[in-house]
Amino acid sequence: MKRGLISILNPIPILILVLAATLTAACVPKPRMEYNKAQLLELHKTKELMRVLYHDLSPVWKSDKKSAYAAADFKIMSHTAPRVLAISQALGSQKVAGKYPKEFARHAADLGKHAAALQKAAAAALEPPARNAIKGINATCGSCHKKFK
Ligand code: HEC
Repeated sequence: MKRGLISILNPIPILILVLAATLTAACVPKPRMEYNKAQLLELHKTKELMRVLYHDLSPVWKSDKKSAYAAADFKIMSHTAPRVLAISQALGSQKVAGKYPKEFARHAADLGKHAAALQKAAAAALEPPARNAIKGINATCGSCHKKFK
């Protein structure tokens, strides 16, 4: 009985999990520079676009963990959504999507669709559609990576 409790509460596996999560997050290198939207549209390197996407979305994911969004969260989302839209357009461009099978462009377009929805919801400070749009954005990462990463 006592042994069982100790093994359930064993801090070592928990520590390892926390460490692994931290390392995974820290593992995505920073983009080489700060790109504005126009520069993102002209960026044709998948990996660099992904690094921008990840670092841009990180504050949005943090906001999304809150039980209720504040005005500051909608502001972050309003700032980020058009940038994600630009990234999705760069991904869908001939110069990037052309390097992959046709389906790649569809995933890029999905990302853009959810980014546009987030932009709209954040501008109107509407929480449920904003949450849905973030969910949609997150789902595209997995579905595209499964095939192409
Ligand atoms: C349209 C397809 C597509 C979508 C959508 C997509 N990714 Fe990617 N992602 C890729 C591909 C392809 C790679 C591998 C790129 C390479 O190594 O050249 C990649 C790699 C990455 C990497 C690794 C970058 C590095 O430094 O090696 C990160 C981080 C990443 N994606 C994050 C995301 C996140 C977060 C999302 C969703 C918000 C997302 N991706 C959505 C296709 C996609």
